[in-house]
Amino acid sequence: MKKQLIGGLAVAALTVVTLTSCSGTARGGSDSGSSVDIPKGSTIGVALPAKTSQNWVLAKAAFEKSLAAAGFKADVQYAAASSTVTDQQNQISGMVTKGDKAIIIAAQDGSQLGTQVKQAKDAGIPVIAWDRNITGTKNVDYYVAFNNFKVGQLQGQALLDGLAKLKGDGPYNIELFAGSPDDANAPVFFNGAMDVLQPKIDDGTLKVVSKQTTFKQVSTQGWLAQNAQSRMSNLLQADYSGSTKLDGVLSPNDTLGRAILQATKSAGKPNPVVTGQDSETASIPLIMNGTQYSTIYKNTDTEAQAAVDLVTTLSKGDKPKTVLDKKNNYNGVKTVPAIELTPILITKDNAVKEYANNSTLEALAKAGQ
Ligand code: GAL
Repeated sequence: MKKQLIGGLAVAALTVVTLTSCSGTARGGSDSGSSVDIPKGSTIGVALPAKTSQNWVLAKAAFEKSLAAAGFKADVQYAAASSTVTDQQNQISGMVTKGDKAIIIAAQDGSQLGTQVKQAKDAGIPVIAWDRNITGTKNVDYYVAFNNFKVGQLQGQALLDGLAKLKGDGPYNIELFAGSPDDANAPVFFNGAMDVLQPKIDDGTLKVVSKQTTFKQVSTQGWLAQNAQSRMSNLLQADYSGSTKLDGVLSPNDTLGRAILQATKSAGKPNPVVTGQDSETASIPLIMNGTQYSTIYKNTDTEAQAAVDLVTTLSKGDKPKTVLDKKNNYNGVKTVPAIELTPILITKDNAVKEYANNSTLEALAKAGQ
């Protein structure tokens, strides 16, 4: 009997541990296991970076709509383009002081928010990195974004597809561009693209004429169009004199893609196959008329909703279903538990179909048909 009883107690104990761990702590389960307290009607902080691309412009309305529908108040703040990092640091500290019950952060520079996310952690406020990871700290609880490595792979594949479709047989002359060094996404996008392109560089199908192939050499400070345009112009002047053709350019987003195309047009080089990202309204007509080859669709409403759903899950005291994706989301200290969304490659062939859930983009794609 005694043996049975002990066995029974052991099973009961195990059940209690299992149940607790899968339902999180009594009042919600932030990743660190500490309990969180997010009553309905709470104010949720959303710290956004400078508006370097249209997706950031769209983010404020997306969060305000999703948070209101979920029964929360929104405290959405953009960092000013001038003193961006300092601005964002002060805004996040302010959100902690005001007592926002969760803080969602799209980092201007994810490596410079360690102090602020520690303040949040010490105050028992869950921190959700949004779109861009926050690095060098264990105090970020969750990361919600589209799979950035997959974004890069899609961009690399699009470049190869466009070259094969539009530039005859190889080998092809190309140049590489990447995003800003202070954006944790930028090297991940680039690594994803090179995962596809490097084998084709190695076998001679692709030739980077300038020989600039490292992230440091090809990155674009601040994601600023003028930085990409001047680098493209300099490359054309240095390496593409005379009849040397430029067949394609890896561009990490639409803003830089349009700047690159401006530079090639000014240099009298017919438009190379150029990739992009963000499905910006300024690029859809260019994709439909063949000027820009591709972009990536990352629905901002969907991405914001995923973060708000996570806040709702925590508010109910449940444990969010996340993935541990080291390749994508190791932040230098830990692999941040993530909710990963799937990016979609867009070319003129599938734009109308894939933009069906976005009337603005669908209309632009249809107008370009
Ligand atoms: C990245 C973001 C991209 C693009 C870029 C420019 O972090 O994921 O979609 O917007 O910033 O700011």
